[in-house]
Amino acid sequence: MRISEVIDRIKHYCKGSWMGQPIDEEKTRDKILFGNTDRECTGIVTTIYASVDVIRKAHELGANLIIAHEALLWNRGDRRGWLEETQNKTYLAKKKLMEDYGITVWRFHDYIHSGIPYKGGYIDGIFYGLAQETGWDHAQICEDISGAVYVECEETTPREVGKLIKEKWNLNGLKCIGNMDAKVKKILVCGHIAEGMDIKPIISRIDREDINLLLPLELIDFTLTEYIKDSGQLGMNRAILAAGHFNLEEPGMKYILKWIDDALKEHIDTTYVQAGDMYTYM
Ligand SMILES: [Fe+2]
Ligand SMILES: [Fe+2]
Repeated sequence: MRISEVIDRIKHYCKGSWMGQPIDEEKTRDKILFGNTDRECTGIVTTIYASVDVIRKAHELGANLIIAHEALLWNRGDRRGWLEETQNKTYLAKKKLMEDYGITVWRFHDYIHSGIPYKGGYIDGIFYGLAQETGWDHAQICEDISGAVYVECEETTPREVGKLIKEKWNLNGLKCIGNMDAKVKKILVCGHIAEGMDIKPIISRIDREDINLLLPLELIDFTLTEYIKDSGQLGMNRAILAAGHFNLEEPGMKYILKWIDDALKEHIDTTYVQAGDMYTYM
């Protein structure tokens, strides 16, 4: 199958619309980030991010298509003009590697978040995959990224949940904030906590619904982190386990292995390659 056909079939498998609006092919993030698509696909690698080591591993596996969720060249829109102009050395070396290995990179972001088939409808493929890979079969998956995955569980602690996700997501560690002995019954994957965002809705929701444990994508020290630290010091059942944005979404890229044959309607060797925990700790 041609690489272009692989991509078309995967897009077709997904819902392809968001909040009632079809994904705009001009504006979508789901673009070819590198390489050409008019050739036979020799194998597929799925990953969160086509890092240098992922590219090397794809070559070792004989795969020429990397399906990545995030950008390739460290900037929104994957613009390359400024890197060419400044002859950025890391860019030039990464580009050469992809050229030498004949790698094509396709970004698969908007389509997978738009939904994969589920019980006659669609469900966010990243967050559903995350829940499945973690063993949270009963999790609620929501279209609102500020509360993307909600889990009600038997009483546990942040330490226990931390152990579970470290093992399931294959991580080196986690940033822990708040009361690590908290009684946890409600867990929320709560999207990006970024500078400049309106923090009132999420803090109000935590307080109102008594959410105990938060797993954010991006996280800053301002706002939510401070709030959870104070809540924890007041003895409340509140904690954050911060794995990092890429670590948290990557299980959804692993879960593609479960459905890609259905999407392609034939088998192409597909391997999940973990970009590797973004962080090491000392
Ligand atoms: Fe992301
Ligand atoms: Fe995402």
